[in-house]
Amino acid sequence: MHSRIAGTGSYLPAHILTNHDLARQIDTSDAWIRARTGIHERRIAAPGEQTSDLALHAARAALGAAGLAAADVDLIVVATTTPDMVFPATACILQSKLGAKNGPAFDVQAVCSGFVYALTLADKMVASGAVRNALVVGAEIYSRILDWNDRGTCVLFGDGSGAAVLVPSADPGILSSHLHADGSYRDMLSVPGSLSEGQVIGTPFVRMDGGAVFKFAVKALADVAREALAANELSSDAIDWIVPHQANIRIIEATAKKLDVPMTRVVTTVDRHANTSAASIPLALDEAARDGRIAAGQHVMLLAVGGGFTWGSVLLRW
Ligand code: UT7
Repeated sequence: MHSRIAGTGSYLPAHILTNHDLARQIDTSDAWIRARTGIHERRIAAPGEQTSDLALHAARAALGAAGLAAADVDLIVVATTTPDMVFPATACILQSKLGAKNGPAFDVQAVCSGFVYALTLADKMVASGAVRNALVVGAEIYSRILDWNDRGTCVLFGDGSGAAVLVPSADPGILSSHLHADGSYRDMLSVPGSLSEGQVIGTPFVRMDGGAVFKFAVKALADVAREALAANELSSDAIDWIVPHQANIRIIEATAKKLDVPMTRVVTTVDRHANTSAASIPLALDEAARDGRIAAGQHVMLLAVGGGFTWGSVLLRW
């Protein structure tokens, strides 16, 4: 038995924050942000909006596309670095908001690799027969963990959510997945804060060594893509679409170049979404699935890298 994606969905909060808006608040410019990152604008969640609310919109859209109801969901995995609260898991809050009752619900914390990690776990559970239908969501509100005075980080991120529904299948949808982590790089990208005795200890904002992250990301994405190609005995010509984590257009272009894949076969949303961490891949996947770019039978490769450091790939046949 295998699993395949039967439907995708996504959601972006209504408020658009442009580079020009940011340039009115801090010492930056639209030209700098576009040239260094490819980002033009990002979405920002409304004050009362929670990560589970963003997840709910994407989940409903994905279930609709799959032709399934909340009652059909046997497993919910939410990938997020910005949960509603310390506990319960955002997946449990989502389950309740969806009106689903069956099976386990839990969060995965692998930062920007979260969706690829979550999809891999769900695939194993569906393919083994442990559950039938799985809802996998990436949802983030990074705007709440950014230092809006730090121009080196606050211009890079945005809020949003994306989801996929996995169902059992005789033929493989998901062909392979490869996950990695190396915690010795944990300080390169982090939110080094925690809660203790009712206080925030440390810094509850994104801290990053941008240059080091950039170099690490390009190498990790290209390495894990090659690992997936070798495991499936495919050349990069056989990949119809790469859906990479949307951190920076220069990281994406450098990775595509290393793999010898033209940018016409790479899905990009970073210009409009910025980096939405665990939500970036399912947001891009949903966009390309809905506008018809990704077609039945095509090979799609998801490539992720993020804090931890974590990285991984999922190769699937659509
Ligand atoms: O999921 C992974 C998340 N993280 C990432 O994807 C980040 C990966 N790294 C990057 O995308 C890039 O390293 C950045 C976009 C963060 C920075 O680009 P860069 O080409 O590496 O620039 P830099 O850090 O070398 O900075 C160049 C200059 C500096 O000024 P000086 O020292 O040359 O005078 C910075 O202070 O640009 C300055 N700078 C800015 N200027 C205007 C840094 N941020 C900004 C800004 N606006 N927002």
